[in-house]
Amino acid sequence: MIEQCKLIEFPQKGDYRGHLVIVEGNQDIPFHIKRVFYIYGSDREVIRGKHANYNTEFVLINVAGTSKVRVDDGRQQKIFSLDRPHIGIYLPKMVWKDMYDFSEDSVLLVLASEHYDEKEYIRDYAEYLEIVNEK
Ligand code: TYD
Repeated sequence: MIEQCKLIEFPQKGDYRGHLVIVEGNQDIPFHIKRVFYIYGSDREVIRGKHANYNTEFVLINVAGTSKVRVDDGRQQKIFSLDRPHIGIYLPKMVWKDMYDFSEDSVLLVLASEHYDEKEYIRDYAEYLEIVNEK
């Protein structure tokens, strides 16, 4: 599953007026976008995420500033740096994720394949390991 976590480079159509980055659902990313949220005002000390989702796929983009994303599938871990506004990371369902090391100016944009539903979150790492190791 961790192999499915991938950096995606989005098309850029910037010109002398400035930058423009395009993210089209089902085209530049592998799902239809149902929800968008963004995280800012976090800092180097904060660790966010710490959960997995039964059904939701995500794409994370630092549209400003930088952060890191650690992904874990119960067997392996991998760390991705989000440091350019035209780069995103795709996260499949059922991957454990932590977001951390936020720069002061970090604005982390998150695109999600599903509407919010707290019931599809796994927020306990021991429980997550049990679930993925059962498979
Ligand atoms: P949380 O899942 O802890 O954020 P993160 O993934 O960044 O660590 O969410 C913080 C709060 O916001 C929590 O009370 C749930 C709520 N929330 C929504 O209501 N809708 C959403 O789409 C999201 C992502 C969170």
